[in-house]
Amino acid sequence: MGLVGDSAIITGGAQGIGLGIARELIARGASVVLFDLNEDAVNEAAASLESGKAVGFAGSVTAADDWAAAFDRAAESFGPVSILANNAGWASLALIEDLEESDWDQCMDVCAKGAFLGTKEFARRADGAGAIVNTSSLNAEAATDGLAHYCAAKAAVSQLTKVAAAELAPRGIRVNAVAPGITRTPMSEGGFLAGRMGEEFIAHTPMGRFGEPEDIARAVAFLVSDDAGWVTGVTLPVDGGGHIRGLQNYWATMQETTAA
Ligand SMILES: NC(=O)c1ccc[n+]([C@@H]2O[C@H](COP(=O)([O-])OP(=O)(O)OC[C@H]3O[C@@H](n4cnc5c(N)ncnc54)[C@H](O)[C@@H]3O)[C@@H](O)[C@H]2O)c1
Repeated sequence: MGLVGDSAIITGGAQGIGLGIARELIARGASVVLFDLNEDAVNEAAASLESGKAVGFAGSVTAADDWAAAFDRAAESFGPVSILANNAGWASLALIEDLEESDWDQCMDVCAKGAFLGTKEFARRADGAGAIVNTSSLNAEAATDGLAHYCAAKAAVSQLTKVAAAELAPRGIRVNAVAPGITRTPMSEGGFLAGRMGEEFIAHTPMGRFGEPEDIARAVAFLVSDDAGWVTGVTLPVDGGGHIRGLQNYWATMQETTAA
């Protein structure tokens, strides 16, 4: 219960890894605002959590005004924000020559600009210690065909993490990131877990299984806790060792699967 009294904002909190982070932080004593684009889903998710410990907030991490309103909501509900999980993300799959400019923009905006705007609002409002954890990806380091926008956006998140950690360290604010391998969520259920794609991922993962949202959430809970009091600026792989062997070529696997 090391997070008693903490007030947290978790983006992309309506489902998947974000909802897993919410469950874990609440179990350790924090209260959370789930900040998500999907209004019905975010309210339903908040209602599924411990009564009085979670509220939903519908908005986009790409809009500075929505960030201001989310921080206001958290302050009114649970007190000034002391923990921020920049977790919302979005991706599609296409080779660069076919990648729509709008998909590039959406991916960079949700993953990278969203984390920047949240970090900025946190830095402006914080008047004491705190912790930020960004959800990066194995793709920040391991490149794979078909994910140029996502790999670039997640590399940006990992670099943002380091700069923010250095700038905010004198104020007692730590900034870290987690880099999940393929984790069982609505995002990955869309094709990454099934068939040959899933089998190849498992073959590249020394621990031989997919991640579950709680695997990522427990690492986030560690990074925001006092146990990580001397840890800042790191991107921690949470991937069953997947970063050791790198990634298969998603695009090639998908083409072979479709052709078969
Ligand atoms: N699932 C994986 O295998 C995996 C692996 C590595 C990294 N990640 C990263 O983990 C994070 C969570 O992934 P997930 O699998 O739970 O995804 P998900 O698609 O299941 O959930 C993402 C949530 O983000 C919300 N969202 C999207 N755009 C938003 C916006 N503009 N403003 C606010 N909310 C928005 C969605 O509504 C959704 O609820 C993402 O950053 C993703 O890139 C996931």
